[in-house]
Order: sequence, then C-alpha cells, then structure tokens
Amino acid sequence: MPQNIVFTPLGEELAAKARHIADTIVRPGAAKHDKAQEYNFEAARAVAEAGLFKTFIPKEYGGHGAGILALARVTEELAKADSGFGVAFAVNALGSFPILVGGTEAQKQRWLPQIARGEKFVAFCLSEKFAGSDAGGLSVTAVEDGDHYVICGEKKWTTNGGVADIYSVFCVTDPTSKSRRISALVVEKGTPGFTVKKVEDKMGIRTVPVVETHFDHVRVPKSNLIGERAGMGFKHAMMTLDLARPGVAAQAVGAAQGALDLANVYANRRQQFGVPISNHQMVQKMLADMAMKTEAARWLVYASAATSDAAGPDVGKMAAMAKCFATDVAMDVATDAVQVFGGYGFMEDYPIAKYFRDAKILQIYEGTNQIQRIVIARSLVRDAAGLDHLQPFIPRETQKNYREGVTA
Ligand code: CAA
Repeated sequence: MPQNIVFTPLGEELAAKARHIADTIVRPGAAKHDKAQEYNFEAARAVAEAGLFKTFIPKEYGGHGAGILALARVTEELAKADSGFGVAFAVNALGSFPILVGGTEAQKQRWLPQIARGEKFVAFCLSEKFAGSDAGGLSVTAVEDGDHYVICGEKKWTTNGGVADIYSVFCVTDPTSKSRRISALVVEKGTPGFTVKKVEDKMGIRTVPVVETHFDHVRVPKSNLIGERAGMGFKHAMMTLDLARPGVAAQAVGAAQGALDLANVYANRRQQFGVPISNHQMVQKMLADMAMKTEAARWLVYASAATSDAAGPDVGKMAAMAKCFATDVAMDVATDAVQVFGGYGFMEDYPIAKYFRDAKILQIYEGTNQIQRIVIARSLVRDAAGLDHLQPFIPRETQKNYREGVTA
C-alpha cells in the first residue's frame, strides 16, 4: 500500500482534458455509436490531439510518462460518459504494455512513439476459444522459419480488433516447455494472412469492436518477438495484466459515477406522491449506498494505481483487488440506477439502460472476478509467512484449553 497518493498537476491536466472531451464529444455521441455498434473515431481523434495517448508512454518514447494513476484518472473521466469509449481508450495501454514491460530498446523506439502520437491504435491478443481464464493453455503457434516466425491459429475477444494497427499476439513457441512455452509477437495490420473475422454483436461496450483475429501462416520477422529471447510471453502477459487492471477498475469507477449522476438528476426531477422521488427515504438509501460504494472503489483504484507507479511488491494483488471490487461496484450501482429510473430505466429511450448493459463485461474481461479472487487469495496465503509473530496466539490443536495459556 503506498504511503500517499500524489495527484500530479500533469495527471490532473490530462484528466481535465479527458473530462472536456467526454462532455462535448463522447456523451453526445454515445447513444448513436452504441446503437450502430460503431467506433467513435471523432472522440479518438480528439483524444489523440489532446495528447492523451501519451499518458502511459514514457517520456523517452514521446509520451508524457504520467504513470498508471494518471492513466486511471483519464480513463475514469472518459468512461463516465461512455464506458465503451473508456475501454476503446484504455485497451491501447493494455496492448502496449507487453512492449513496455518486455520489449527491447529498439522495439520501444519503433512502436511506442507512434502509439503516443495516436497514429497507431493497439490491441492485445491473448484469449482463445478454449483458453480464457487459463491463459497458459493457448494453442496459437509461432514456428521458427529462418529469420521469421510463422503464426497459425485463431484468437478470440480481441478488443479494438480491426481498428488497431498493432497487435501483441501471444503464441506457443515451445510446446515441450512448461514454463517457457509462450512468447509474444507484434503483428501489424496488413500483414499477409492476418485477418479480422467474426465481429461480435455485444450486449454492451458497443462502440469498441471485439473480434476474432485469424492467423493463417502469418510471417513476421524475428525482430517482432517481444524481448531478447523466446519463452517470456506468459510472464509478460501477467505483468501486463497487473499494470492494466487498474485501468479497467478506473473504467468501472467512471461507469459507476456516470450512472449515479444520472440517477441523482432523475431522482430530483421525477415526481411521485407529490414530491421528487429523492424525498423518499428508500430512494435516498439507494443513492447513499451507490455513492458510498463508488467512493470506496475510487480510492482503492487510486491506491492500486499509485502502487503500480511506485512498483511496490503488492502490484498484482492491489490491481486484482481494485479490478474485482470496482467492477462489482459498477454492476451494483448500474443495477440500482436502473431501479431509480423505474420503468423508464428499462427502456432504451433513456441513457441508463446502456450503463447497465456496459457494466456486465467489466466483471468478465481482463480476468474474471473469480480469477481476481484467486490472485488475491494466492498473494494472501504467501503473505501468511510474514505473520509468524501471531503463531503463539493461536493454540495448537493438542492444547486443551486456550485460557490455560499459549506456548510459543
Ligand atoms: N507477474 C509475473 N510473473 C507471474 C505473475 C505476475 N503477476 N503471475 C504468475 N507469474 C509467473 C509465475 O511466477 C510462474 O513463473 P515460473 O513458471 O517461472 O514459476 C508462471 O507465471 C506461471 O504462474 P502460475 O502457476 O501462477 O500460472 P497459472 O497457470 O496458475 O495461472 C492465472 C495464473 C492468474 C490464473 C492466470 O492464468 C490468469 O491471470 N488468468 C486470467 C487471464 C486473463 O486475465 N485474461 C484476460 C485477457 S485480456 C481481455 O480480457 C481482453 C481484452 O481485450 C480487454
């Protein structure tokens, strides 16, 4: 846990720019893009012009080097207006992190500046039809052929697929190895044999495409292998998810705050029994609970992002806790927000149904909340070794009575 959470002037300046774009471009276009299931290029261009893609890229590669906390603040502001656009932005960080955490200097120089300028969008290809939570169970292969790798197979749930120019693709390079089985390779749009196939028809986050990506003997030079040597892919994937999960969690906080704000405005306007429904105690209780949960989630997200920035030892656990807690909160708050809107909340004429539909995926992607609890529990069990000073206070099963005194 960080000693303090420092909001830098730069991070807050970027968040203010994100809020302006969210209010003037993202929110007014949200219903249209949701209905048509269209990417919001206008908002993405505005984000690029405002330099927001630079947020998570270090200064030496043309970014702001503003860190994970600033990334969380920017994502939160965008997601408040449209959770789908929140992920359309944040997924660029998810796809870039394998290069950031594992890439060589030359690879960072090659790809990161274009991403920072918003010239190239990014996607992360890990999941497959039969490998979701079990991220180690991949079947897409990359086989060495001279100075190239040849990639074959299919990836599932590629967020930003089709829109993205750069894809971090996790492949099996050594099927005989247990711990060095997987490597990540960069595949660029237009590489022969690389195609986007099924475009999913989704319940929510409809402004960002989620697709199947197919690799039919895709040849990429060995210089596209992320890092110096093969076999580091699983570690890079886990490190990437540790860094990216505060971003999903921030998207959840934005979504929850957005739903709460709409419910609050509606509750003050809607009259029943001669008064605004916000005068009724049962509605007040719902609004109060929504606000408490959102605020608690917000500060856990900031703490986890600050832990990432400080490269603390608990990065993975904090990220999993923030992701799990904040996304469960977003689902709860969106559900209650629909309840506040009553019958109107169930209708697509009103904006709140979309918040409800958008919230569900947050509990599923970038690791289901069941997987987050496994990550948290594994970390806790490891931490038990540091709690040995408590041993004397827990009687051995052989002791007859705790009150007889404990023995060290
Ligand atoms: N950082 C670095 N290394 C790590 C690590 C971490 N956080 N977690 C594990 N590792 C290392 C381990 O040390 C171990 O290394 P050795 O082999 O050298 O000992 C190795 O990785 C294997 O670790 P585990 O035994 O813990 O692996 P596991 O098979 O039990 O799986 C898991 C662990 C946490 C369940 C993992 O499979 C996981 O995170 N699953 C969820 C995957 C996920 O989040 N998918 C979402 C994809 S992104 C998405 O949703 C789409 C999108 O576009 C938005």
